[in-house]
Amino acid sequence: MLRAILLGPPGAGKGTQAAKLVEKYSVPHISTGDIFRKNIKEGTELGKRAQEYMNKGELVPDDLVIEIATSRLLEDDCKDGYLLDGFPRTVHQAEELDKFLQAHGSKLDYAINVAVEKEALITRLTGRRVCEKCGAGFHIVNLQPKVEGVCDECGGKLIQRADDTLETVENRIDVYEKQTMPLIQYYEKAGNIVNVNGDQELDKVFADIVSALGE
Ligand code: AP5
Ligand code: MG
Ligand code: ZN
Repeated sequence: MLRAILLGPPGAGKGTQAAKLVEKYSVPHISTGDIFRKNIKEGTELGKRAQEYMNKGELVPDDLVIEIATSRLLEDDCKDGYLLDGFPRTVHQAEELDKFLQAHGSKLDYAINVAVEKEALITRLTGRRVCEKCGAGFHIVNLQPKVEGVCDECGGKLIQRADDTLETVENRIDVYEKQTMPLIQYYEKAGNIVNVNGDQELDKVFADIVSALGE
């Protein structure tokens, strides 16, 4: 059982660590960013609304995100835990999540904060490649696929995310600092924050998270 959120700047490695954590703890991985990208790909109304903000590196409006995340948490597979990735990312979202969980007699076990210096984030994001088909993440230097441009997991084509251009990356980091960083204090106050140094080898970051969660 694990009811947790992953907190951290764009490129901190939330998605990378989430993939490993959900396997270990057998809980669903809920990434609001992934949900929006799926909707954009499918051309839904939600996708169209979200895309305007995402392409500029701005946050999608709170009401829209809260509705999507909380309705996802009501699905059956979340009964025995979940790992939220990229939600909440404003204090208002965090308050609404707490209210929602409280109303369902539940609460978060951990807010896992993965910290990485700004310079490293830019290199990570501009060099990131993702599988068009299954969403698996790679990096042109740090996490190379076995065959260039091809996903190790499913053979799909590796592409660059639309918001991984230098200009948008810089804005995403600014937006993080202004709107999301205050959440660190929010969860410090709540007493369930776990701070991890994300500026280390992937496996070391993972080991640190697991040991901080007490296993
Ligand atoms: P989202 O998809 O959540 O993007 P993000 O927060 O910007 O974070 P990323 O996915 O870019 O980074 P990550 O931390 O997952 O890093 P990764 O593991 O891939 O959100 C996108 C957009 O959707 C937002 O801008 C917003 O518009 C909207 N949105 C989503 N949720 C929202 C919300 N709650 N409210 C409002 N709007 C919302 O790693 C990055 C790269 O680094 C990879 O190439 C990886 O291989 C490499 N790497 C990872 N770990 C390491 C390591 N330890 N060492 C070296 N390289 C590493
Ligand atoms: Mg991600
Ligand atoms: Zn794939």
